Amino acid sequence: MSRKPLIAGNWKMNLNHLEAIAVVQKLAFALPEKYFAHVDVTVIPPFTDLRSVQTAVDGDGLLITYGAQDVSPYDSGAYTGDISGAFLAKLGCTFVVVGHSERRTIHGESDEIVLAKTKAALRHGLTPIVCIGEGLEIREQGTQVAYNVAQLEGSLAGLTADELAKIVIAYEPVWAIGTGKVATPADAQEVCAAVRASLAELGGADVAAGIRILYGGSVSSKNVGEIVAQSDVDGALVGGASLKPEEFAALSAIA
Ligand code: G3P
Repeated sequence: MSRKPLIAGNWKMNLNHLEAIAVVQKLAFALPEKYFAHVDVTVIPPFTDLRSVQTAVDGDGLLITYGAQDVSPYDSGAYTGDISGAFLAKLGCTFVVVGHSERRTIHGESDEIVLAKTKAALRHGLTPIVCIGEGLEIREQGTQVAYNVAQLEGSLAGLTADELAKIVIAYEPVWAIGTGKVATPADAQEVCAAVRASLAELGGADVAAGIRILYGGSVSSKNVGEIVAQSDVDGALVGGASLKPEEFAALSAIA
């Protein structure tokens, strides 16, 4: 099954709602419409930028989509500080990142919480980009495949095949995030292939064959080509390079 590559730009806690408009407009200018037949491109700004991004995208009929960096596991009510999937859907979001390593590490999010957020995203018609990835210690022990498969299974436990068919996975080795130390294409393929095999066990071979698995960690226009050329890597989750519209457009075009 052929899977359309997805390039997602995770802005993390960068760019305010005014800067967001400028970045989206520059990105649209640098990425001609013809590329969208071959690659999906999405930006994942902070919550406070979403309305600006929506206005820029809708106002100019852009083909770029957008999403959020997190979602509440709850739908509404007394959850101070949380943002509901219903709100994100109403703002036109397509994607929501769940279980990013920065949330797992800094905010102590467990696989159970990631699963609850994944379910919340699905309830509201959003596509969760479920993140997994090993730290340096695990990589040095050589147990990265087992570690990532366990994290994946914990984060998706009990989802039906129909639900699994609606998600995207992002493999982001923590040691490669923001370090300039990108995984080799073979490293990325090793884990992404194991992830796909595990998805096949959870949801069947056909479902697994259709799920997009992204690689993330120091992706740039210099390395994206060889990474997405791997048979089980279907795109990239990009941090730092997504803040520079020309660079992000260039790497999307290569993908
Ligand atoms: O979610 C994207 C990410 O964590 C990778 O960041 O800056 O290494 O591309 P970066």
